[in-house]
Amino acid sequence: MTGTRAMLGRSRLISILAILSSGCALFVRPIDPSARAIDSHSFARPDEAVVRHLDLDLQVNFEKKEISGRARLSIENLDDASTFPIDTKDLRIHRVSVGTDERPVEFILGAEEPLKGQPLIVFIAPDTTVITVYYTTSPGAGALQWLDPGQTAAGRHPFLFTQSEPILARTWVPCQDTPSVRMTYRATVRVPPELHAVMSASNVTTKDPRGIYEFEMRQPIPSYLMALAVGDLEFRPLGERSGVFAEPTVVEKAAWEFADTERMMAATEVLYGPYRWDRYDLVVLPPSFPWGGMENPRLTFCTPTVLAGDRSLVSLIAHELAHSWSGNLVTNATWNDFWLNEGFTVYIEHRVMEEVYGTEYEDMLSTLDFDELLEEIEAMGPTSQDTRLRLDLSGRNPEEAMTAIAYIKGFFFLRTCEQVVGRDRWDAFLRGYFDTFAFQSMTSERFLAYLRRELLDKPLEEKIDPEAWVFGTGLPRNVVRPQSTALRGVAEELLRWEQGAAAGSLRTDGWSTHEWLYFLRKLPRPTAIDRMADLDKAFRMTGHGNFEIACEWLLLSIPSAYEVAYSRLETFLLTVGRLKFIKPLYQALVESPAGEARARTIYARARSGYHPLAVQALDKVLGL
Ligand code: BES
Ligand code: ZN
Repeated sequence: MTGTRAMLGRSRLISILAILSSGCALFVRPIDPSARAIDSHSFARPDEAVVRHLDLDLQVNFEKKEISGRARLSIENLDDASTFPIDTKDLRIHRVSVGTDERPVEFILGAEEPLKGQPLIVFIAPDTTVITVYYTTSPGAGALQWLDPGQTAAGRHPFLFTQSEPILARTWVPCQDTPSVRMTYRATVRVPPELHAVMSASNVTTKDPRGIYEFEMRQPIPSYLMALAVGDLEFRPLGERSGVFAEPTVVEKAAWEFADTERMMAATEVLYGPYRWDRYDLVVLPPSFPWGGMENPRLTFCTPTVLAGDRSLVSLIAHELAHSWSGNLVTNATWNDFWLNEGFTVYIEHRVMEEVYGTEYEDMLSTLDFDELLEEIEAMGPTSQDTRLRLDLSGRNPEEAMTAIAYIKGFFFLRTCEQVVGRDRWDAFLRGYFDTFAFQSMTSERFLAYLRRELLDKPLEEKIDPEAWVFGTGLPRNVVRPQSTALRGVAEELLRWEQGAAAGSLRTDGWSTHEWLYFLRKLPRPTAIDRMADLDKAFRMTGHGNFEIACEWLLLSIPSAYEVAYSRLETFLLTVGRLKFIKPLYQALVESPAGEARARTIYARARSGYHPLAVQALDKVLGL
């Protein structure tokens, strides 16, 4: 048993004893069970006093690369607490006060811990309801990337975006930075008048000539979903409830690419109940955005590398939209339960893709995912503790939870449940799950208890074996393997190629991005130079405009020493900051003969344009 689970067990025991010894259970204050999960990545003590609402007034300064202003926290002191620890990291704290009349109050900025940052400990009274913190961010704040005009599509204006998940909100807002706490928020944000600010909240669609923007998020959200982007943005509607923000030179392309968004919303609502966030908009960020997408409520942030020109990469939108149920509505209580966010989301994403684009299409996506999962488990080792769905991340960076385990093993667990209990019953169960736990946080244990109570009798439980899936390592034997007719066709062509058929003779007509990815991933490393050249000539791989395909081709070119692709590789690494692409590329370079020197040369030029998070990850890859 892990330390955290042992502690949970103990505190539950203490509260039972308290009930017994008080003689009358009615006098025991009911505690929201979700608030009791211990989050080792936060200094906050939400059981004692909790933030309910946040009011921000911020100024964005591009010259100094600073955000400064005030955060006003409305709190509820549940337990007559006398101290209130707030999560901060790399913040300069100027002043702290309590009450709406802002009476100065004592506070201590605690010692810095490498991952968690510093607790800002405010001395409060039983009746304290408002704490105001005046602060400034540091230019190196982990959640912020400040882009020079040259790093944007049009190259004329600077750009700023935040990325708070998992524990970086505290680098730009002092808050209880744990997913087990939810709050509503309002914000006033002041930016240079030529720029437009958008947040994970209500947004206006035209620029304010004064550069002052007001935001409101009326549904309570965890801190990691606070988000801000500032740049030269334009808006295009996609439908009644959705639209896209992007730089002027990108916005038309984005609106075309994401035209199916409303259909996806409708499909998700049929399955899992009403969309509860009013609008669903997207903002396309510059290419240095380190992730594919981020499910900031009401406003998904996404990479421009999904703009393939053929809508072939829009499962990413289905994914981020799905988080409006799994993650944003029912939220992992701690980062150990990250699979509850991502595994559920991948499951919903696949159901929506099936609904909108058909079963054949979904079969391809599942098969690609399954291969990735097998590879990940193989790389980690099938008995690695990190192959469990429920993780133990204490003392570690929760970013380490972002593996195929949470996403794809999580997905296959739910798919296995679906297969065993039948789609109708499973759909009804999930729908009830989102209704029952809307706007609450969830632990793995609590989910399993609910699953058993609502759905499983003894035989079903034995068939599924949820304990093995959630607490066991590796891949359980009862996993339902995906099958794809389309990809079987690709495998046949692969076989012909392996037997010496020329690239031009392969039957590739009508292949989608996914068929190409499957094909490229299965090619041998190294592949002989003449065969690389033959493939390149037939399919124009080196100049391919689809980033997924281009990346896969480059990943093959490196161990194959296919020098023709090297300048494309360099341009790719100098312009794209999406970690999913660039980390494996640098890794492949470092592992290839003579590649390490090239990796270093490129990285020396590219590093200053990468997101702090990418820099952190890539420094490790390059041994810096
Ligand atoms: N919430 C994640 C992104 C994330 C996870 C950021 C953990 C920071 C820490 C987002 O929903 C996500 O999963 N994005 C994926 C795309 C998706 C289609 C699998 C990504 O960015 O690759
Ligand atoms: Zn996700």
